[in-house]
Amino acid sequence: MRLLVHQIHPAIVASAGRLSRKLSVLTNAAGNSRPALRATNEAFAARSRSEPFRINHQTYHTLIFGANSMECVAVVTATANAAASAAPSTSGHDVPTLDRDSFKQILNVIAIRVPNRKCADVMKAFRGFTLDRPRLRCIVQDGDRSETKLLLLEENIKLEDLPPELHGRLEAEGLTVAATDHPVVLDYGMLSADAVLKRLLPSGVDAPSSFETIGHIAHLNLREEQLPFRFLIGKVLLDKNPHLRTVVNKVGSIENEFRVFQMEVIAGESRLETEVTQHGARFRLDFSQVYWNSRLESEHLRLVSSFQYGEVLVDMMAGIGPFAIPAAQKGLTVYANDLNPRSAHYLALNARLNRLGSSCLKVFNTDGRAFLRLLCDCPGSTAQELRAKLPPPPPPGGGDGGDGGDISAAATNGGCTAVGGNPAKRQKTRAAEAAEAGPLPAVPDGFAPPVGGLLFHHVVMNLPASAIEFLDAFSGAFDPAYWGCRPLPLVHCYTFKRSAETEADIVAKAERYLGGPMDSDGSCSVHTVRDVAPNKLMICLSFRVPREVAFKGRRT
Ligand SMILES: C[S@@+](CC[C@H](N)C(=O)[O-])C[C@H]1O[C@@H](n2cnc3c(N)ncnc32)[C@H](O)[C@@H]1O
Repeated sequence: MRLLVHQIHPAIVASAGRLSRKLSVLTNAAGNSRPALRATNEAFAARSRSEPFRINHQTYHTLIFGANSMECVAVVTATANAAASAAPSTSGHDVPTLDRDSFKQILNVIAIRVPNRKCADVMKAFRGFTLDRPRLRCIVQDGDRSETKLLLLEENIKLEDLPPELHGRLEAEGLTVAATDHPVVLDYGMLSADAVLKRLLPSGVDAPSSFETIGHIAHLNLREEQLPFRFLIGKVLLDKNPHLRTVVNKVGSIENEFRVFQMEVIAGESRLETEVTQHGARFRLDFSQVYWNSRLESEHLRLVSSFQYGEVLVDMMAGIGPFAIPAAQKGLTVYANDLNPRSAHYLALNARLNRLGSSCLKVFNTDGRAFLRLLCDCPGSTAQELRAKLPPPPPPGGGDGGDGGDISAAATNGGCTAVGGNPAKRQKTRAAEAAEAGPLPAVPDGFAPPVGGLLFHHVVMNLPASAIEFLDAFSGAFDPAYWGCRPLPLVHCYTFKRSAETEADIVAKAERYLGGPMDSDGSCSVHTVRDVAPNKLMICLSFRVPREVAFKGRRT
């Protein structure tokens, strides 16, 4: 019985108890896999006792079973997703092994001897007949002759296939055929991933056409019929993309509130913490723990470009900071929040990596609605309690300028400054300390909004599946005495639009959650971000919070 303990996928652990019992049976027959298997069993047993079930992406591993049917059954009983990834059907095809040497091939081609100075002209004249393979040149060295080169023709082209004008050219230029069987060696290293996979995969199974790259990780979304061949596909992609170290495949769909999906490492290292650079900002993340989508890069840039130096940004669902970090780098003061503790952790870490101090970027780890109402000092929020805990104000000239404050003050301060200068003197930021110390508090230490609420210019809400439902948080959130006739913030709310819906439908839906009409000052605009599925677009709805919504139920 062959049993290979590799990784346990979160999906499998969902029915850990059942699987654990099966595994105890397997342990007895597992030979030298025993210690690893025992540890695995213990992890399963511990998980199955913990109620409610919580996904901890770091500790799970996927089990890959040999051909033995009994072992596969253990996985199949876990969950439908796990079953699909653990023992998918090959539709009767054997999964080929990757024998790199088998790709070695010698082509015998015609070689025409051409004086060096005529090479460019002759190559141009013979276009369409010359050797045309990736990573191979059609003009090569002519043995040890220094005055001539060899022009190689494509495989299977014979002299008699050449049109009369090319024969004329050969004669006129005095060109000779150096060999009719010049050997050209083709090997695995010269082939593209697509060419290799085309040769290995059975008909009806295409090579993946693209993948997302996140640092050293390639993220695939394989189709059902590709799943049996996933390890092979992963191996070839690693071979052909030297910057990659890990290949993962998405398992199932994103269903959890943190927008994190289950994934299986199909090739390379199991290391899922990586680093990405976007427009000069560095982002560290664990791809299995937090949301990240490299395809949103231009949208992050578009929105941040619309912000002005010195403004104040509130990012309600900030993830690891692709809006928040560049905005702070641009000189905005940023209040960034995410409900996922791991996102908040990486957000704080990324602030530090990009040398942004806590006066530039404050990290919160709470529900977006509660976060907004806290910043606005809404009745019922914890703002007052937080203020009561604040230490006495620093002497004039000291401190980091304090929290909250005035829109105009932020503007004249020029927002925030990066922590820079002499590295020896560089201060550790509070965010950095928190990032090192483990889970972040829901509200950063020492923060309390000013009486009447913080003044801010923009709110970003990027949780397209449900952000629109959070618009109710704006209703009556603003203190008219404090905001007076200042412009209310611009909201940038991401949502999905299906092909059956119009933009007007989406605006009407947003207004229902907001509790009032949104376009009284003509600020409302709809921007299409990207196609996410054949009949589904991601869009960004931008509008200024309407006064009648902002001050609803508040005394003027
Ligand atoms: C689609 S991601 C966007 C993250 C980031 N803004 C970006 O562009 O990459 C949505 C984020 O919302 C967070 N989230 C989900 N529910 C939330 C809530 N109730 N309050 C705050 N954040 C939430 C998730 O953890 C996730 O990081």
